[in-house]
Amino acid sequence: MTPGELKALIRTVPDFPAPGIAFRDITTLIAHGPGFAATIDHMAEAARLSGAVAVAGIEARGFLFGAAIAARLGLGFVPLRKAGKLPVATLGIDYALEYGSARLELDPTLVDPGEPILLVDDLIATGGTALAGAELLRQAGARVDHALFVIDLPDLGGAGKLRAAGIAPWALFD
Ligand code: PRP
Ligand code: ADE
Repeated sequence: MTPGELKALIRTVPDFPAPGIAFRDITTLIAHGPGFAATIDHMAEAARLSGAVAVAGIEARGFLFGAAIAARLGLGFVPLRKAGKLPVATLGIDYALEYGSARLELDPTLVDPGEPILLVDDLIATGGTALAGAELLRQAGARVDHALFVIDLPDLGGAGKLRAAGIAPWALFD
């Protein structure tokens, strides 16, 4: 399936989770077997070309795509979790996103110093979440040069913020 056909499987819900937000819902994409498989095919090829040796995914929707890409390529998966979920000492960072604020945490022992890690999430909007994830991985000693998304919302400027931070963004569609 082409990126255009995959985009047609996304559902857009107005005014969720707050008035004025056009929510891009990926549940209709992942519920479609051929659509989910083709999405992972495209993303895994981009991941392979990035040269990364591990994949980091952002809870929760980034886990769905990041873990599938990592398994496809035989790479390790590093979870960037929301606050209070990890049972060990963590690095943490607070951040703002299109419709609120949150905190990500990482077990830094999952990262080898200097290793190139690919950041994966379902969507980039303002870029707040992805930048926070990259910052945490860098604090743990990783190199973060590439980030993959299913969806980019270009009007919100997140991809440009990633480029300014030395991270090349890639998205399946916008
Ligand atoms: C969504 C999405 C990204 C983030 C993008 O996550 O999955 O992680 O927002 O927004 P930004 O570019 O403006 O930071 P959300 O925090 O809603 O969490 P979820 O994956 O648990 O649904
Ligand atoms: N995360 C941030 N903005 C979003 C949007 N418009 N749709 C889905 N997830 C989002």
